[in-house]
Parts: sequence; structure tokens; C-alpha cells
Amino acid sequence: SAAEKGGHEYFMLKEIEEQPEALANTLRGHFDGGRIILDEQRISDQDLRDVDKVFVVACGSAYHSGLVAKYAIEHWCRLPVEVELASEFRYRDPVLDRATLVVAVSQSGETADTLEAVRHAREQKARVLAVCNTNGAQIPRESDAVLYTHAGPEIGVASTKAFLAQIAANYLVGLALAQARGTKYPDEVAREFAELEAMPAAVQKVLSTVDQVRDLGRRIADSKAVLFLGRHVGFPVALEGALKLKELAYMHAEGFAAGELKHGPIALIEDGLPVVVVMPSPKGRAVLHSKLVSNISEIQARGARTIVIAEEGDETVRPFADELIEIPAVPTLLQPLVSTVPLQVLAAEIARTRGYDVDKPRNLAKSVTVE
Ligand code: AGP
Repeated sequence: SAAEKGGHEYFMLKEIEEQPEALANTLRGHFDGGRIILDEQRISDQDLRDVDKVFVVACGSAYHSGLVAKYAIEHWCRLPVEVELASEFRYRDPVLDRATLVVAVSQSGETADTLEAVRHAREQKARVLAVCNTNGAQIPRESDAVLYTHAGPEIGVASTKAFLAQIAANYLVGLALAQARGTKYPDEVAREFAELEAMPAAVQKVLSTVDQVRDLGRRIADSKAVLFLGRHVGFPVALEGALKLKELAYMHAEGFAAGELKHGPIALIEDGLPVVVVMPSPKGRAVLHSKLVSNISEIQARGARTIVIAEEGDETVRPFADELIEIPAVPTLLQPLVSTVPLQVLAAEIARTRGYDVDKPRNLAKSVTVE
């Protein structure tokens, strides 16, 4: 009913608007007595300290949350982090031992590919930490440690609030590792946690772009394809934006690392093609920012319709943006928590305009319990 959907036409928009709360609930209680706390820990602190390599294994959007986390965990912990599609992981011969931490990220906690990856990792003696949105699901039950996301039940098949909560939870895992390894001082861990705690308000702020983005979605709904570009943490955001559009609007969509443009994808640019560009902060990532500005000017010169997601006050991009969507200024590593939101709204509105069921896209199940 409309009441269940909080007055919205579909659950997804309600769930998009619940993201500040999902983030706040996921962070709550995880910093106590000056330390990051997991929900369940069946391995010793010494085992955490001894970790010398991290794998994140997951599928779909959860996999994208892992790609985002790689930037933070490598930076904070000085540990190599590999992010793997769960369906590929155990069919290679991944190098795993007791000093490997496998972080299994799954909203449902029942995804067959991720569960089998967990089992394979444990057989090889790796430690497994589950990031999961469903209490007592199979993946957390079979893991050595658990951090629950508290996004609440997600009805829309396309993940929104669970995805943002996964990013936050993965960051908590990174901070727990940094604290165990001593690669960050306690006051730095506290500062990072405080920055995370400021994110629900930033996400609330970005929700003020919903009407603008819905209007844009209606205007580009008859496009044949949409491309998404980003760099650094904006690259996995581009992948997530493209996945949302494929899932919901059945449109051809691709996410690229913007630096790859001239190595191939630029050949796809043609008149009127919408290209969404996720800009890094002009202050926080000045070098990448200027490279992306030149990418946008190149693709605009070749006729693309540029849709630019940029930090508020970023005037350098304005001349090259056919549509400018402003997001609040936040620390670089946390930008995906705000830059993803307009991409969710865009995909949902394009799907709605094309007459599709936003909450139940064709051919997809909310949790994939077969391989
Ligand atoms: C996201 O929009 C998708 N519905 C899908 O990619 C999902 O993230 C994936 O199937 C993993 O599910 P899980 O988090 O429950 O393991």
C-alpha cells in the first residue's frame, strides 16, 4: 500500500530516503571506550593483528561496496586488499592462509556464491569476517567475526540503503584492522569515526537533489545507453550507477575508470549520449579533478550530453556540465556515500518513466540462493 511505501509510489524511493537513518544505525554502538567494536568476534585480537592480506568477496552491489573499501583499507592499514567477485573467487586458486582475512559482504547473508566463497576460504584456514544486513543468516553463522549493517529490511530488489550501509560497515572493518595493527593512532581512529558519524547529515543534504534528478531522468529516459565515469572511489560509484540502470531501466549502461577513456571507451561517445561523471573534490583530489575536467571537455566536444556530479561550489566544471548535480563537500574516502544517491534516483526515475516496476525488475530475485 501507499502507506507502507511512506507515501511513495515505490519502495525504492522510500529506501533511498531512509539512507541517513540506515547509516546512523549501522554506525551506532561501534565506537566505544575509544575503540571500534565488531558485533561478534570469534577470533583473537592477536589473529586480527596478524592479518597480512585482505580479500573482499561479494556479488553485485555488495562487490562494489568492497571496491570502495579497498581504497580506505589499503590507506589506513597498509595491507594489500583484493576485491573479488564471489563467483570467481573459489574457481581460481586464491592464495589463502591463516593470516588472510576474507571479508564477505552480503545484504541477505544467503547469496550462494558468497557463501561458497566463505566455505572455501575457511577450508584454506583463512579467517572470515561477514558484513551482513540479516541477523543470523547463513554467511554470518559460518564466519569468524560479524559486523551487521542496520539498514533495516530492503524491499526494492535494487540495493540502495543496504549498499550505503555496507560501505560504512566495510570502513569500520578497516578501522578495526588499523587499530589492531597500530597503523593508526587511537585519536586518528576516533577522528575517522567522527567523520563517518557526520555522513547521515550529508546524505540528508544530498536528498535535496531528488527532484532535480527525477526531472533529468524523465528527460533522458529514451536514451539508448548511458555511460558513467569516475576515478579513485568515484570509479566503483560509476560501476554502481551503471548496475542500477541496467537492473531497473533495462538500458545499456557501462561504468569506466575515467583514465581508461582514451584507451578505448571514448570511441563510444556520440551525439546526445548521456555521460555521467562523478567528480572528485577540487581541493581534496586536485590532480584527479583537473584530469577529469579535461575528460569532460573532451567528451562534451564530441557531442556527449554531460551530467556532472560535483562538490558544491566547484565552479571549474560548470562550463562543461550540461546538467550539474551538486553534492556536499565531504572527505574524499566518504564521497561515495553522497555521490551514489543521485545515481540511484536517476535509475529509478528512468525506469518509472519507461513504465517498469521499479521495485521488482524483470528476471531478478532479491537474494540469489543458487549459483
Ligand atoms: C543490487 O542492486 C542487486 N540486487 C544485487 O547486485 C545484490 O547486491 C547481489 O545479488 C548481492 O546480494 P547480497 O548482498 O544479498 O549478497
